[in-house]
Amino acid sequence: EEGLHSPKYPWDHQGWLKTFDHQGLRRGFQVYKEVCAACHSLSRVPWRALVGVTHTVDEAKAMAEECEYDDEPNDVGEIEKRIGKLSDYIPNPYPNEQAARAANQGAYPPDLSLMVKARHGGCDYIFALLTGYPDEPPAGAQVAPGLHFNPYFPGTGIAMARVLYDGLVEYEDGTPATTSQMAKDVVQFLNWAAEPEMDQRKKMGMKVLIVTSVLTALSIWVKRYRWAPIK
Ligand code: HEM
Repeated sequence: EEGLHSPKYPWDHQGWLKTFDHQGLRRGFQVYKEVCAACHSLSRVPWRALVGVTHTVDEAKAMAEECEYDDEPNDVGEIEKRIGKLSDYIPNPYPNEQAARAANQGAYPPDLSLMVKARHGGCDYIFALLTGYPDEPPAGAQVAPGLHFNPYFPGTGIAMARVLYDGLVEYEDGTPATTSQMAKDVVQFLNWAAEPEMDQRKKMGMKVLIVTSVLTALSIWVKRYRWAPIK
């Protein structure tokens, strides 16, 4: 069963000459870290990827160092813990899928690294999903026990409850943390996670356009010039 089609939102970063808004990405990371990371992994993103995008080297290092990772086995094969470093990946909230399901009534919170690419509707879908929980399910809606009504989720019964509420996080840049602002920021951040090369790709595309237009103009001029005496 299809979910309700999500509205199309005017995402700034999706314009063909637009880049990600890095202040927004930083807020979006904060929402991921303080809210989503309780249940969802972001397993393809290493701490170092945040450097120069959302955080300074020192900030990213400090966040990595707050986490513990398994060290290489020592001489007798024991695995000890060590503190994180920039090259480590953002840690998973659960040790494995079984533990994740056990903590979520059997449902699995999927990894969010490529979610923007994985779901039909991408940014629009995730924004609609996060902001689309009605206070009460509509009259007559069937919601299985343990599930929550969300019209945008295929099947409309989703194991994830509404997670975003006005004022849930406190943004350091003073942006009011409304439900829709947090959803917008975290969605943009997840788009960056899935497509970190987007800014670079657009810049390169622009260069290619400029160079090919110059070369085209030049070759038209050369052709006219060379053929002029013959015509
Ligand atoms: C599913 C995003 C927070 C538990 C999902 C899905 C997305 C998502 C995109 C996939 C929906 C689909 O399959 O189409 C987010 C974001 C969060 C967040 C952006 C933070 C703002 C949480 C939290 C929990 C949670 C805090 C646990 C308390 C789940 C579970 C599912 C899920 C269990 C699977 C739902 C199902 O298949 O029925 N989430 N989530 N999520 N999420 Fe979250």
